[in-house]
Amino acid sequence: MIKKGIILSGGMGTRMSPLTKAVNKQLLPIYDKPLIFYPLSILMLAKIKDILIIVNKGQLNQYRKILPDGKNLGINITYKEQFSPKGLPDAFLLGEKFIGKDNVALILGDNFFYGQNLTKQLLNSIKLKKGAKIILHKVNKPELYGVAKIDKKNKVISIKEKPKKFLSDLAITGLYFFDNNVIKFAKQLKPSKRKELEIVDLINKYKKNKKLIADLIGRGGAWLDTGSIEDFYKTSSFVSAIENRQGFKIACLEEISLNNGWIKKRDLNKAIKFYGNCEYSNYLKKL
Ligand code: G1P
Repeated sequence: MIKKGIILSGGMGTRMSPLTKAVNKQLLPIYDKPLIFYPLSILMLAKIKDILIIVNKGQLNQYRKILPDGKNLGINITYKEQFSPKGLPDAFLLGEKFIGKDNVALILGDNFFYGQNLTKQLLNSIKLKKGAKIILHKVNKPELYGVAKIDKKNKVISIKEKPKKFLSDLAITGLYFFDNNVIKFAKQLKPSKRKELEIVDLINKYKKNKKLIADLIGRGGAWLDTGSIEDFYKTSSFVSAIENRQGFKIACLEEISLNNGWIKKRDLNKAIKFYGNCEYSNYLKKL
Protein backbone atom coordinates (compact mmCIF):
# COMPACT_ATOMS: atom_id res chain seq x y z
CA MET A 1 0.00 0.00 0.00
CA ILE A 2 1.23 3.48 -0.81
CA LYS A 3 0.48 5.92 1.97
CA LYS A 4 2.94 8.67 1.15
CA GLY A 5 3.05 11.09 -1.74
CA ILE A 6 5.37 13.78 -2.99
CA ILE A 7 4.33 16.80 -5.03
CA LEU A 8 7.28 18.19 -6.92
CA SER A 9 6.38 21.81 -7.18
CA GLY A 10 9.74 23.29 -8.06
CA GLY A 11 10.90 24.56 -11.42
CA MET A 12 11.35 28.14 -12.49
CA GLY A 13 8.36 28.28 -14.83
CA THR A 14 10.54 30.17 -17.28
CA ARG A 15 8.16 29.54 -20.16
CA MET A 16 5.57 31.58 -18.29
CA SER A 17 7.68 34.56 -17.34
CA PRO A 18 6.96 37.35 -16.39
CA LEU A 19 3.99 35.74 -14.59
CA THR A 20 6.34 33.44 -12.73
CA LYS A 21 9.04 35.96 -11.82
CA ALA A 22 7.64 36.64 -8.35
CA VAL A 23 5.21 33.76 -7.84
CA ASN A 24 5.62 30.04 -8.39
CA LYS A 25 3.62 28.71 -11.34
CA GLN A 26 1.83 26.25 -9.06
CA LEU A 27 0.35 29.13 -7.06
CA LEU A 28 -1.14 30.79 -10.12
CA PRO A 29 -4.83 30.16 -10.82
CA ILE A 30 -6.27 27.40 -12.93
CA TYR A 31 -9.70 28.99 -13.17
CA ASP A 32 -10.83 29.39 -9.54
CA LYS A 33 -8.05 27.86 -7.48
CA PRO A 34 -4.26 27.62 -7.42
CA LEU A 35 -2.75 25.03 -9.73
CA ILE A 36 -1.26 23.14 -6.75
CA PHE A 37 -4.80 22.20 -5.58
CA TYR A 38 -5.20 19.90 -8.59
CA PRO A 39 -2.23 17.54 -8.06
CA LEU A 40 -2.90 17.65 -4.32
CA SER A 41 -6.49 16.59 -4.98
CA ILE A 42 -5.20 13.61 -6.97
CA LEU A 43 -3.10 12.35 -4.05
CA MET A 44 -6.07 12.88 -1.73
CA LEU A 45 -8.38 10.97 -4.06
CA ALA A 46 -5.78 8.18 -3.85
CA LYS A 47 -6.37 8.31 -0.06
CA ILE A 48 -2.81 9.46 0.52
CA LYS A 49 -2.65 11.55 3.69
CA ASP A 50 1.05 11.99 4.23
CA ILE A 51 2.29 14.52 1.71
CA LEU A 52 5.61 16.22 1.06
CA ILE A 53 5.56 19.30 -1.14
CA ILE A 54 8.90 20.23 -2.64
CA VAL A 55 9.03 23.91 -3.50
CA ASN A 56 11.49 26.41 -4.93
CA LYS A 57 13.86 28.20 -2.67
CA GLY A 58 12.23 31.30 -1.23
CA GLN A 59 8.63 30.24 -1.92
CA LEU A 60 7.86 28.39 1.29
CA ASN A 61 5.99 31.22 2.99
CA GLN A 62 3.74 31.71 -0.01
CA TYR A 63 2.75 28.02 0.00
CA ARG A 64 2.19 27.97 3.75
CA LYS A 65 -0.31 30.81 3.42
CA ILE A 66 -2.60 28.71 1.28
CA LEU A 67 -1.70 25.20 2.48
CA PRO A 68 -0.41 25.52 6.05
CA ASP A 69 0.11 22.00 7.39
CA GLY A 70 -2.85 20.04 6.11
CA LYS A 71 -4.60 19.73 9.49
CA ASN A 72 -7.55 21.70 8.12
CA LEU A 73 -7.90 18.95 5.50
CA GLY A 74 -7.26 16.03 7.84
CA ILE A 75 -3.94 15.35 6.15
CA ASN A 76 -0.31 15.97 6.96
CA ILE A 77 1.64 18.35 4.71
CA THR A 78 5.35 18.91 5.10
CA TYR A 79 7.59 21.06 2.94
CA LYS A 80 11.09 20.89 1.63
CA GLU A 81 12.93 23.49 -0.40
CA GLN A 82 14.75 22.69 -3.61
CA PHE A 83 17.61 25.08 -4.17
CA SER A 84 17.94 24.48 -7.90
CA PRO A 85 16.00 22.30 -10.34
CA LYS A 86 17.96 19.04 -10.64
CA GLY A 87 15.41 16.86 -12.38
CA LEU A 88 12.42 14.90 -11.16
CA PRO A 89 14.31 12.08 -9.39
CA ASP A 90 15.77 14.69 -7.05
CA ALA A 91 12.39 14.43 -5.29
CA PHE A 92 13.48 11.07 -3.89
CA LEU A 93 16.83 12.39 -2.70
CA LEU A 94 15.24 15.41 -1.04
CA GLY A 95 12.44 13.21 0.22
CA GLU A 96 14.56 10.33 1.51
CA LYS A 97 13.79 11.00 5.16
CA PHE A 98 10.11 11.61 4.47
CA ILE A 99 9.79 8.34 2.52
CA GLY A 100 11.65 6.29 5.12
CA LYS A 101 10.98 2.61 4.52
CA ASP A 102 7.70 3.15 2.66
CA ASN A 103 6.58 3.11 -0.94
CA VAL A 104 5.73 6.44 -2.49
CA ALA A 105 3.74 8.21 -5.19
CA LEU A 106 5.10 11.21 -7.06
CA ILE A 107 3.02 13.79 -8.85
CA LEU A 108 4.32 16.85 -10.65
CA GLY A 109 2.96 20.12 -9.32
CA ASP A 110 1.79 21.25 -12.73
CA ASN A 111 -0.06 18.12 -13.85
CA PHE A 112 -3.84 18.12 -14.30
CA PHE A 113 -5.88 14.90 -14.39
CA TYR A 114 -9.60 14.46 -14.79
CA GLY A 115 -11.90 11.57 -15.57
CA GLN A 116 -14.66 9.26 -14.46
CA ASN A 117 -12.43 6.26 -13.80
CA LEU A 118 -9.63 8.18 -12.22
CA THR A 119 -10.38 7.55 -8.56
CA LYS A 120 -10.80 3.82 -9.19
CA GLN A 121 -7.50 3.78 -11.06
CA LEU A 122 -5.77 5.68 -8.26
CA LEU A 123 -7.08 3.36 -5.56
CA ASN A 124 -5.87 0.44 -7.60
CA SER A 125 -2.43 2.01 -8.12
CA ILE A 126 -1.75 2.60 -4.44
CA LYS A 127 -1.99 -1.16 -3.89
CA LEU A 128 1.50 -1.41 -5.42
CA LYS A 129 3.79 -3.47 -3.23
CA LYS A 130 6.84 -4.06 -5.43
CA GLY A 131 8.15 -2.35 -8.55
CA ALA A 132 6.91 0.80 -10.23
CA LYS A 133 3.86 1.93 -12.10
CA ILE A 134 3.57 4.65 -14.71
CA ILE A 135 0.39 6.19 -16.10
CA LEU A 136 0.19 6.73 -19.85
CA HIS A 137 -2.06 8.92 -21.97
CA LYS A 138 -2.28 9.35 -25.73
CA VAL A 139 -1.21 12.78 -26.93
CA ASN A 140 -0.88 14.58 -30.21
CA LYS A 141 2.66 15.79 -29.64
CA PRO A 142 4.55 12.95 -27.94
CA GLU A 143 7.89 14.61 -28.72
CA LEU A 144 7.20 17.01 -25.82
CA TYR A 145 7.12 14.29 -23.18
CA GLY A 146 8.65 11.11 -21.94
CA VAL A 147 6.96 8.37 -23.99
CA ALA A 148 6.45 4.64 -23.62
CA LYS A 149 5.92 1.96 -26.21
CA ILE A 150 3.80 -0.91 -24.96
CA ASP A 151 2.68 -4.28 -26.31
CA LYS A 152 -0.85 -5.66 -26.47
CA LYS A 153 -0.70 -6.70 -22.84
CA ASN A 154 0.31 -3.18 -21.75
CA LYS A 155 3.84 -4.37 -21.11
CA VAL A 156 6.37 -1.57 -21.57
CA ILE A 157 8.76 -2.34 -24.42
CA SER A 158 10.74 0.88 -24.43
CA ILE A 159 10.73 4.35 -22.96
CA LYS A 160 12.42 7.54 -24.04
CA GLU A 161 12.49 11.19 -22.96
CA LYS A 162 11.24 13.60 -25.63
CA PRO A 163 12.08 11.39 -28.62
CA LYS A 164 12.87 13.24 -31.85
CA LYS A 165 11.98 10.16 -33.89
CA PHE A 166 8.48 8.74 -33.37
CA LEU A 167 8.41 5.91 -30.85
CA SER A 168 4.85 5.97 -29.52
CA ASP A 169 2.10 8.51 -28.94
CA LEU A 170 1.69 7.45 -25.32
CA ALA A 171 3.09 10.09 -23.01
CA ILE A 172 4.31 9.18 -19.55
CA THR A 173 2.24 11.46 -17.35
CA GLY A 174 3.64 13.10 -14.27
CA LEU A 175 2.09 10.63 -11.86
CA TYR A 176 4.24 7.72 -10.73
CA PHE A 177 4.08 4.99 -8.11
CA PHE A 178 7.28 3.45 -6.74
CA ASP A 179 8.42 0.91 -4.22
CA ASN A 180 11.10 1.85 -1.71
CA ASN A 181 13.94 0.95 -4.10
CA VAL A 182 13.30 4.32 -5.71
CA ILE A 183 15.68 5.99 -3.26
CA LYS A 184 18.47 3.55 -4.03
CA PHE A 185 17.88 3.84 -7.80
CA ALA A 186 17.71 7.65 -7.69
CA LYS A 187 21.10 7.70 -5.98
CA GLN A 188 22.60 5.69 -8.85
CA LEU A 189 21.51 8.17 -11.56
CA LYS A 190 23.88 10.44 -13.45
CA PRO A 191 22.79 13.81 -14.91
CA SER A 192 21.75 13.75 -18.56
CA LYS A 193 22.83 16.10 -21.36
CA ARG A 194 20.42 18.73 -20.02
CA LYS A 195 22.28 18.39 -16.72
CA GLU A 196 19.31 16.92 -14.90
CA LEU A 197 18.50 13.56 -13.37
CA GLU A 198 15.91 12.03 -15.69
CA ILE A 199 12.77 10.25 -14.54
CA VAL A 200 12.93 7.95 -17.60
CA ASP A 201 16.36 6.73 -16.48
CA LEU A 202 14.86 5.95 -13.10
CA ILE A 203 11.88 4.15 -14.61
CA ASN A 204 14.25 2.25 -16.89
CA LYS A 205 15.93 0.73 -13.85
CA TYR A 206 12.61 -0.83 -12.91
CA LYS A 207 12.04 -1.92 -16.48
CA LYS A 208 15.42 -3.68 -16.60
CA ASN A 209 14.47 -5.58 -13.46
CA LYS A 210 11.10 -6.45 -15.02
CA LYS A 211 9.39 -4.52 -12.27
CA LEU A 212 7.60 -1.89 -14.34
CA ILE A 213 3.91 -1.83 -15.09
CA ALA A 214 1.87 0.68 -17.05
CA ASP A 215 -1.70 1.84 -16.79
CA LEU A 216 -3.57 3.86 -19.39
CA ILE A 217 -5.87 6.82 -19.02
CA GLY A 218 -8.20 6.26 -21.94
CA ARG A 219 -9.88 8.83 -24.14
CA GLY A 220 -12.62 9.37 -21.56
CA GLY A 221 -10.08 10.90 -19.23
CA ALA A 222 -8.04 14.04 -19.54
CA TRP A 223 -4.43 14.78 -18.78
CA LEU A 224 -3.78 18.41 -19.55
CA ASP A 225 -0.73 20.52 -19.77
CA THR A 226 0.04 23.68 -17.90
CA GLY A 227 3.51 24.24 -19.33
CA SER A 228 2.95 27.27 -21.54
CA ILE A 229 0.65 30.24 -21.11
CA GLU A 230 -1.54 28.94 -23.91
CA ASP A 231 -1.91 25.51 -22.22
CA PHE A 232 -2.47 27.17 -18.87
CA TYR A 233 -5.50 29.05 -20.18
CA LYS A 234 -6.84 26.04 -22.05
CA THR A 235 -6.77 24.04 -18.82
CA SER A 236 -8.50 26.93 -17.03
CA SER A 237 -11.22 26.95 -19.69
CA PHE A 238 -11.68 23.21 -19.31
CA VAL A 239 -12.21 23.56 -15.54
CA SER A 240 -14.53 26.52 -16.01
CA ALA A 241 -16.62 24.67 -18.61
CA ILE A 242 -17.09 21.56 -16.46
CA GLU A 243 -17.65 23.39 -13.17
CA ASN A 244 -20.17 25.85 -14.55
CA ARG A 245 -22.06 23.17 -16.39
CA GLN A 246 -22.29 20.69 -13.52
CA GLY A 247 -22.12 22.89 -10.45
CA PHE A 248 -19.48 20.55 -9.04
CA LYS A 249 -15.99 21.78 -8.37
CA ILE A 250 -12.90 19.98 -9.58
CA ALA A 251 -10.22 19.68 -6.90
CA CYS A 252 -12.19 21.13 -4.00
CA LEU A 253 -9.87 19.82 -1.29
CA GLU A 254 -12.34 20.14 1.58
CA GLU A 255 -14.98 18.22 -0.37
CA ILE A 256 -12.56 15.35 -0.97
CA SER A 257 -11.58 15.30 2.72
CA LEU A 258 -15.22 15.27 3.71
CA ASN A 259 -15.98 12.39 1.33
CA ASN A 260 -12.95 10.51 2.63
CA GLY A 261 -14.21 10.97 6.19
CA TRP A 262 -11.10 12.93 7.16
CA ILE A 263 -12.98 16.02 8.28
CA LYS A 264 -16.46 16.67 9.62
CA LYS A 265 -19.10 19.00 8.21
CA ARG A 266 -18.50 21.45 11.05
CA ASP A 267 -14.84 21.75 9.97
CA LEU A 268 -16.08 23.37 6.79
CA ASN A 269 -16.97 26.48 8.79
CA LYS A 270 -13.30 26.95 9.60
CA ALA A 271 -12.46 26.64 5.92
CA ILE A 272 -15.13 29.16 4.97
CA LYS A 273 -13.69 31.61 7.48
CA PHE A 274 -10.19 30.96 6.16
CA TYR A 275 -11.03 31.59 2.51
CA GLY A 276 -13.35 34.50 3.26
CA ASN A 277 -16.26 35.74 1.26
CA CYS A 278 -15.70 34.16 -2.14
CA GLU A 279 -17.22 31.74 -4.59
CA TYR A 280 -15.14 28.84 -3.25
CA SER A 281 -16.59 29.48 0.23
CA ASN A 282 -20.09 29.61 -1.21
CA TYR A 283 -19.48 26.17 -2.66
CA LEU A 284 -18.30 24.91 0.74
CA LYS A 285 -21.47 26.31 2.31
CA LYS A 286 -23.54 24.26 -0.11
CA LEU A 287 -21.73 21.07 0.94
C1 G1P B 1 8.71 15.78 -17.37
C2 G1P B 1 9.30 14.39 -17.60
C3 G1P B 1 8.57 13.69 -18.76
C4 G1P B 1 7.07 13.65 -18.48
C5 G1P B 1 6.54 15.07 -18.16
C6 G1P B 1 5.11 15.02 -17.69
O1 G1P B 1 8.98 16.59 -18.46
O2 G1P B 1 10.69 14.52 -17.87
O3 G1P B 1 9.06 12.38 -18.89
O4 G1P B 1 6.41 13.12 -19.60
O5 G1P B 1 7.31 15.69 -17.14
O6 G1P B 1 4.59 16.29 -17.41
P1 G1P B 1 9.44 18.12 -18.29
O7 G1P B 1 8.33 18.81 -17.58
O8 G1P B 1 10.70 18.10 -17.51
O9 G1P B 1 9.63 18.64 -19.69
